[in-house]
Amino acid sequence: MNISLKLFRFDPEKDTKPHYDHFTLDIDPSERILDLLEHIKGYYDGAVAFRRSCAHGVCGSDAMRINGHNALACKVLIKDLQTDQITIEPLLGLRVLKDLIVDVDPFFDNYRKIMPYLINDEPLPEDGKERLQSVEEQERFEVSTRCILCAACTTSCPTFWANNEYAGPAAIVNAHRFIFDSRDRGAAERLRILNDRTGVWGCRTVFNCTEACPREIPITRVIAEVKNAINTGSLK
Ligand code: SF4
Ligand code: F3S
Ligand code: FES
Repeated sequence: MNISLKLFRFDPEKDTKPHYDHFTLDIDPSERILDLLEHIKGYYDGAVAFRRSCAHGVCGSDAMRINGHNALACKVLIKDLQTDQITIEPLLGLRVLKDLIVDVDPFFDNYRKIMPYLINDEPLPEDGKERLQSVEEQERFEVSTRCILCAACTTSCPTFWANNEYAGPAAIVNAHRFIFDSRDRGAAERLRILNDRTGVWGCRTVFNCTEACPREIPITRVIAEVKNAINTGSLK
């Protein structure tokens, strides 16, 4: 299959502004976008910069904009795009460091603010081994444990584009993961943090985040559950 590729390029050490490189390639449509980028890097321009690690949708490092939609390059097949015109660009809302690599520090700063770890200073159960949880209690937050921190959601959110201090959907999903965990005791503090001007009320239910999530987390619903917990004080 012949495709026409438009690839975003920007090297702040050499360029005063971004530009696009154009490639015409004969490529197997069952290849992935990540394969396409590796092909460009291997045969056309070794300086093309992008992040990748696992190549199997697990590490979350290769989120980018593919024909205008945030996705993991290793999860999108060329034939899935249903066009021979492909545009690849970096995620929006974060500073471009080089080509498809963006500065993810603001994203992870927001993630750290919601204390993404189990908080419980109470003594361990008598057997000293583990804090047990029922299947139903685990199911309460199971959906938000699927997050791989790829940033596809947060960088698709207009509120985050306007203000990087907005916690963003990924941080809220990860707060949800602990707020509704029956073993955790940090819910009140996390809800206080998310009731701030940079917290959940910045969400205008745009749904871009839910559409972008490669793990199919119902993010907008998850955010609504956190909003409800703040409003009602209930963790049901
Ligand atoms: Fe990525 Fe989904 Fe996690 Fe957002 S919620 S960081 S889109 S896996
Ligand atoms: Fe943004 Fe998602 Fe809310 S795109 S406005 S966080 S529903
Ligand atoms: Fe790890 Fe794509 S390279 S998710």
